[in-house]
Amino acid sequence: MGEQSSAANRPLAVLVLAAGKGTRLGAVADLPPKALLECLGLPLIEHVRRAIAPLEPAHAVLVIGHRADEVEAWRSTAWPEALPVPQVPQNGTGHAARLALEALPDFVGDVLVVYGDVPQLRPDDLQALLAAHRAADALATVLTGVTPEPGLLGRIVRSASGAFERIVEARDASPTELGIQEFNTGIYVFQAAALRGALTNLSASNAQGEEYLTDAVGDVAASGGAVVGMAAPDPSALLGVNDWADVAAAVATLRARICTEHMRRGVRITDPATTVIEADVTIAAGARIYPFTHIGTGCRIGAGARIGPFARLRGGTVVGAGAELGNFVEAKASTIGAGAKAKHLTYLGDADVGAGANVGCGVVTANYDGNAKHRTTIGPGASIGSGTVLVAPVEVGEGARTGANAVVLPGQGVPPRATAVGVPSRVLPSDDDSGEDAAGPEGASE
Ligand code: UD1
Ligand code: MG
Repeated sequence: MGEQSSAANRPLAVLVLAAGKGTRLGAVADLPPKALLECLGLPLIEHVRRAIAPLEPAHAVLVIGHRADEVEAWRSTAWPEALPVPQVPQNGTGHAARLALEALPDFVGDVLVVYGDVPQLRPDDLQALLAAHRAADALATVLTGVTPEPGLLGRIVRSASGAFERIVEARDASPTELGIQEFNTGIYVFQAAALRGALTNLSASNAQGEEYLTDAVGDVAASGGAVVGMAAPDPSALLGVNDWADVAAAVATLRARICTEHMRRGVRITDPATTVIEADVTIAAGARIYPFTHIGTGCRIGAGARIGPFARLRGGTVVGAGAELGNFVEAKASTIGAGAKAKHLTYLGDADVGAGANVGCGVVTANYDGNAKHRTTIGPGASIGSGTVLVAPVEVGEGARTGANAVVLPGQGVPPRATAVGVPSRVLPSDDDSGEDAAGPEGASE
């Protein structure tokens, strides 16, 4: 009893291994290092950081190696409290863990080791592992999974009585061992002293010529230490990302989870299977998201808004309450006022659309002059005729209108309540703007 509560109070250090090359993603020059691969708007490693954060570890160590400067640039802003440890050369997961632990020479307590290529990791998975480890007062606890075809993953070898013996890498496994369906997720907790000891004994005489952390687990077990292999409830959500099929599977898991969270909070998503909502999007309850819609990180969507089908929102676009962005509408770094509508085939880039404005079919904000981006302002209640091109920087005043296919040039704009038509656009005399025949020149669509 006393022992258990002392185990529960042990300090926690987390080692995150992210020095590897990501060889199986192919040698594409413009690809970021694996740790920084974008997964639903966040770097892969940021998902891992978020899974760890609620554990509030006393120490966090991030092992960096391949393109370390780029990963370090991320760490220094996103995770300043993590200690960066360079690993040169990258001589295997055991080597990486040894260097990381050497950075905490006096640490006594539990050491959680997490491979930095598991973006689907959740705080609950780690909490459950830690709780099992401490409840059993084990020297090491391995999070395992069971899947019919574990592919290249390490296999968990158990004795006839089911006790954990060791982990064998697929490349080093016998045909019988390859048939084992229980695999190593690459997430472990060790008591610091046991890990320190085991890491001094590693050899690199294996198929990959690397020091394997997996051998350290076997070493603790072989020396009579208590090792627990704990099966994760949903192992498919813990598969490391090694090739593009793994990336797609991980993103699919994250994507489904994000959609579910929004739906549980009252957002109506017609077809989550074709809806991509990246991380860190705010959607008010009562908003509706139609199929084949992509909403980028940082976007905010108000109550009762309708987005899609086939809409794309990015750059932190803010959509007001009751606004509608319909099919084939792209909005980037824009604010869409309450009740405003752009329902068909429209690009709103760097635009501020006032409340209640109507943006007709095929409207384009030409925001880029080849060198710089410029903003477009559309006033409240304005009506932008179909096919209008607003060449930024440009402002359309409150209640103003443009005719179909008008091209409004930079700096010219349309005064409040005026109507502009033609290419380049000219403002109609106010006499002609009585509104009697408004439906003609404006060519609006709604
Ligand atoms: C590893 C495990 C395997 C497990 C699988 C789970 C070993 C030897 N094998 O295989 O049992 O089933 O993960 O996904 O541990 N890394 C470094 N430095 C290195 C090498 C790797 O920091 O020198 C990092 C990588 O960046 C990566 C992680 O460690 O985040 C795992 O390395 P990876 O090469 O992906 O190992 P796997 O082959 O997936
Ligand atoms: Mg891996």
